[in-house]
Amino acid sequence: MSFFPFFFFFLLFYDNPTLKIVNFGGEIISDIKKDKNMSELNIDWANLKFGYMPTDYNVRCYFRNGAWGEIEVSSEESINIHMAATCLHYGQEAFEGLKAYRCKDGKIRIFRMEANAERLQSTCRGILMPELSTEKFCEMIKKVVKLNERFIPPYESGASLYIRPLLIGTGAQVGVHPANEYLFVVFVTPVGPYFKGGFFANPYVVIREYDRSAPLGTGIYKVGGNYAASLLANKKAHDLGYACEFYLDAKEKRYIDEAGAANFFGIKNNTYITPKSTSILPSITNKSLMQLAEDLGLKVERRQIPIEELETLEEAGACGTAAVISPISKIDDLEMNKSYVISKDGKPGPISKKLYDKLRGIQYGEEPDVHGWVTVLD
Ligand code: PLP
Ligand code: COI
Repeated sequence: MSFFPFFFFFLLFYDNPTLKIVNFGGEIISDIKKDKNMSELNIDWANLKFGYMPTDYNVRCYFRNGAWGEIEVSSEESINIHMAATCLHYGQEAFEGLKAYRCKDGKIRIFRMEANAERLQSTCRGILMPELSTEKFCEMIKKVVKLNERFIPPYESGASLYIRPLLIGTGAQVGVHPANEYLFVVFVTPVGPYFKGGFFANPYVVIREYDRSAPLGTGIYKVGGNYAASLLANKKAHDLGYACEFYLDAKEKRYIDEAGAANFFGIKNNTYITPKSTSILPSITNKSLMQLAEDLGLKVERRQIPIEELETLEEAGACGTAAVISPISKIDDLEMNKSYVISKDGKPGPISKKLYDKLRGIQYGEEPDVHGWVTVLD
């Protein structure tokens, strides 16, 4: 038989490759056609959701025999692990989230990756996984961004490249013990805003019947179990028409902790107020906003925030890598039948706007990076 029919079918298939965009729940958001030579992407960047889209490469590093190995590059989306891996049974896994931006000057900037490396190290100490050096972490981040450069959304599209480092226990155990083998993998995916409308105020809800994490539990670490614990409350919040759920401290149910995937801040009397709690994630965005608030001449208070204090706030927001700043229009406390309205017209407050502009300005290289937060890729 001639070679021609095979060649013809190959061309047909090759001519129409598609990229499926799947959200974190596995639901397909849309199919995207790649062009023939895969060099140009036909993506509607401005309408991108916060979801998963396959990219060209991920980078991997294995921990075996007590040491981290060489960095490997893979174009495979799946990983092959033992059925008794500790990440599957005992939740020995951690992840991080950070972003890379295509900037006006044509350069690519990554925000505070060293801080993510340090937070991952803290998580590793918390759930007995081997720490990865800041140097190796950053090398892998830079490599995966560079390798997937064509997936970094254009400047001013409102989208950015989300970077997801993941560390999992791959060694087999049946008793509850840490694994002796691990995989660290970093993938990227272009994303749009996490909360609807981007920088526009959204309603949130306190659901008292669920806790995300215990006062001395794993809330300060970025481990998957915290997110599993939030799924039900998050679904309930969405079903009721809210952007996201807020948790109160699990012990006294008196103080604001955080949202399912973002920290909380409030503004009043020229003061930036954010919760001090042993069960919330130390957000790098929040830490940055505290510094920027101070730079803008605001007082910064990190302390317990009783839920009733919401009544006195002039502005409030949820903040995080995915959320950036998501201004809060109101927080409803369902069980107490109370609604704390913060922005009546749904518009972000002036200080939130200033903080947002300053943060975005630094991330996009349009404001001086006086704190050394940004890595510019060559
Ligand atoms: N809190 C939780 C529970 C999160 O998942 C996130 C997201 O990473 C944050 C806060 C914000 O942290 P960061 O600003 O470091 O992204
Ligand atoms: C982030 O903001 O990076 C997060 O991790 C949120 C994520 C759980 C969607």
